[in-house]
Amino acid sequence: MTVRALVADPAAQEGIGLGEAGDPDPRPDQVLVDVRHISLNRGEVAFASRFAPGTTLGHDASGVVARAAADGSGPVEGARVVVFGAGAWAQRVAVGTDSVAEVPDGVDLADAAALPMAGVTALRTLRSRPILGRRVLITGAAGGVGRFAVQLAALGGARVIASVGSAARGEGLAELGAHEVVVGLDGIDRPVDLVLDNVGGAQLVAAWRLLAPGGDIQSVGWASGEPAAFAPHSFFSLGPSRSISTFGDATRFGPDLATLVEFVAEGRLSPEIGLRGAWDGVAEAARALLGRQVSGKAVLDVEPYRRDAGGR
Ligand SMILES: NC(=O)c1ccc[n+]([C@@H]2O[C@H](COP(=O)([O-])OP(=O)(O)OC[C@H]3O[C@@H](n4cnc5c(N)ncnc54)[C@H](OP(=O)(O)O)[C@@H]3O)[C@@H](O)[C@H]2O)c1
Repeated sequence: MTVRALVADPAAQEGIGLGEAGDPDPRPDQVLVDVRHISLNRGEVAFASRFAPGTTLGHDASGVVARAAADGSGPVEGARVVVFGAGAWAQRVAVGTDSVAEVPDGVDLADAAALPMAGVTALRTLRSRPILGRRVLITGAAGGVGRFAVQLAALGGARVIASVGSAARGEGLAELGAHEVVVGLDGIDRPVDLVLDNVGGAQLVAAWRLLAPGGDIQSVGWASGEPAAFAPHSFFSLGPSRSISTFGDATRFGPDLATLVEFVAEGRLSPEIGLRGAWDGVAEAARALLGRQVSGKAVLDVEPYRRDAGGR
């Protein structure tokens, strides 16, 4: 039995094609989920060619539990869920119950699919420092991580400075909670306490110069793909240490996903879906994402699994 899946395919546009994968065989601590929606993340799309041909891609999905975990943990059969797990861009996926959260009735499953990688990354990096009353700079603020980070930083009581590539890309960020929306970093005239850097390259260097004593840059991503050249002695500073921290925690998403989906249910967090379509349009969606044309998240609808169609 097979399921349809978005797989690494060197012959397909953007290196991602609709193919076949084995019907997942869950471990005792995994739920089996019938996937309804998936969301794309920049890294998954940009680096699809690094995976062996045929590998099922993706991490973010939402759907309905087809079979509960054998060990009794996690949601029951029929529960609506959002999940984070490798190989999630398929009609069915097996995911550890520690990376699953139930979706409240009032929350659309497509909205839930937008949350996992970008939302949890924003949440976890913002939690790295106290932000109440602090100046928090978010670069690449118009993107998936950025739009969640703006909202969550504002929820946490920060003074939020959102940096974007052009004025047009800044649209809607003030409504989400940004106190200042700037193009690039030149317009920022006071030090910042925490930076969530999604862009890397020259913006990372400029952000370092803006950092207050004791401040930290969470290096979330490097969307620019550009090198960062620091002037000699850039890392000497008087007073409390300044730091640049790496981030790459892809474990145990369940509790943080539950927090985010609850925020959505309460109307405190908007999923910010800038592109929605069917999953056979993955190439166009990938191009738009890499071309900086998606405001927030790209969410795709998955053709439902049908056992009577031989698992298709
Ligand atoms: N460490 C982790 O665990 C983790 C988790 C999630 C994501 N990431 C990484 O974090 C980054 C952001 O992810 P995302 O999902 O938010 O991606 P995204 O939705 O594609 O957003 C990226 C943003 O970066 C900006 N950008 C792209 N190229 C740029 C350039 N050359 N110069 C200046 N700005 C540029 C764009 O700004 P404009 O829209 O203003 O043009 C865009 O809004 C990506 O590199 C991703 O791979 C890392």
